[in-house]
Amino acid sequence: KVHDGHGGIVSTLFVDGVPLPPFPSLRSNLRQIDKFQVRSDDIWIVNWPKSGTHWMWEVVMMLSSGQAQLRDSVKVGAMFPEACTLQATEKMTSPRVLDTHVPFKLFPKAALKSKIIYTVRNPKDACVSAYHHQKGMAVHNKVSWEGTFELVTNGKAHYGDWFDHVEEWLKVLENNPNALIVTYEDMKMDLKKQVRRVAEFLGYKRSEKFYDDVAKLCSFGNMKKEKRDIKSAWSKESAGIYRKGTVGDWKNYFTVAQNEKFNEIYNRRMKNINLDLKFEL
Ligand code: A3P
Repeated sequence: KVHDGHGGIVSTLFVDGVPLPPFPSLRSNLRQIDKFQVRSDDIWIVNWPKSGTHWMWEVVMMLSSGQAQLRDSVKVGAMFPEACTLQATEKMTSPRVLDTHVPFKLFPKAALKSKIIYTVRNPKDACVSAYHHQKGMAVHNKVSWEGTFELVTNGKAHYGDWFDHVEEWLKVLENNPNALIVTYEDMKMDLKKQVRRVAEFLGYKRSEKFYDDVAKLCSFGNMKKEKRDIKSAWSKESAGIYRKGTVGDWKNYFTVAQNEKFNEIYNRRMKNINLDLKFEL
C-alpha cells in the first residue's frame, strides 16, 4: 500500500522499485519479459499511463490492417505484455500492435529494433486523468485529487515518475529511425495530420479518404459512443477510459499553489528533455 499523504491509499506492487498496479501477474509477467520473442513487423505503443494509449492503438490498428473500423480492445485483449502472458503475445497475429507503460529499464531490449511509437501528453492533464482512473477503479477508490497530485509529483504514481519515464525513453528513441514521438496535443489539434505521419513512419501508404475515415472514427465523441470498457474494472459513477478527452482540463483541478509547485518541477526537469509540450490549445 502506498499512502498518498492525504489519507488515501493506492494499492501498488513494486517491481525493481517501479510502482505498478496491484496485479500479481504483472510481477511474474515482467520477470519473463526478457524471453519476449520479437517479430520483425511488431509495432509498439509506449507511454506513461493516461496519455492516449487507447486512442493511438485504434489508429495503429486501422493503419496496419487497412480497415477503418473501431475494434473491441476488450476482446482483442492481449495488448500489454506486462498485463497478459508472453504465451498470449505469441498467439497474436502479425503485425502485432503491442502496448506498454513500463519505464525503459523494464522493456525487453530485443524489441528495441521494432517500430516504437512513444506518445506523450502534457503531465498536468495526464495527472488529472490518472486521478479519475484511480478513483474509478474499484481497488483504488480511496484516492483524492490532492493525494494523486502528491503521488505524481513524488514519482510514486503507477509506472513511476513521469519525468524519468519521458527522459529515459527519449534518450533511447530520439535518434532511432525506428521510433516516432507523437504528442496527445498534436493529435487533438490535427488528428488526420498525425494519422498520416504515423502511417508514413510505419511504411503504409493509404488514401486521403482512408486517413479522413480514421480521423473521423477516432474522434473523442465517436470513440466514447462506440467503445466498450472493461465494465467490471470501473465503479458505476466512473466515465471509464473515455472521460473528457481535452487539453487543459488540469485548470479545473490544480490550485494556484499546486500549479506553482508543478511548474517549478517542470522547468527544472524539462531542461534535460527535448520536448515542447502544450498545456492548452
Ligand atoms: P481524460 O481522462 O483526460 O479524458 P489511456 O488510453 O492512455 O488510458 O488515456 C486515456 C485518456 O485519453 C483519457 O483522458 C481519455 O478521455 C483520452 N482519450 C481516449 N480516446 C480519445 C480520443 N479519441 N480523443 C481524445 N482523447 C482521448
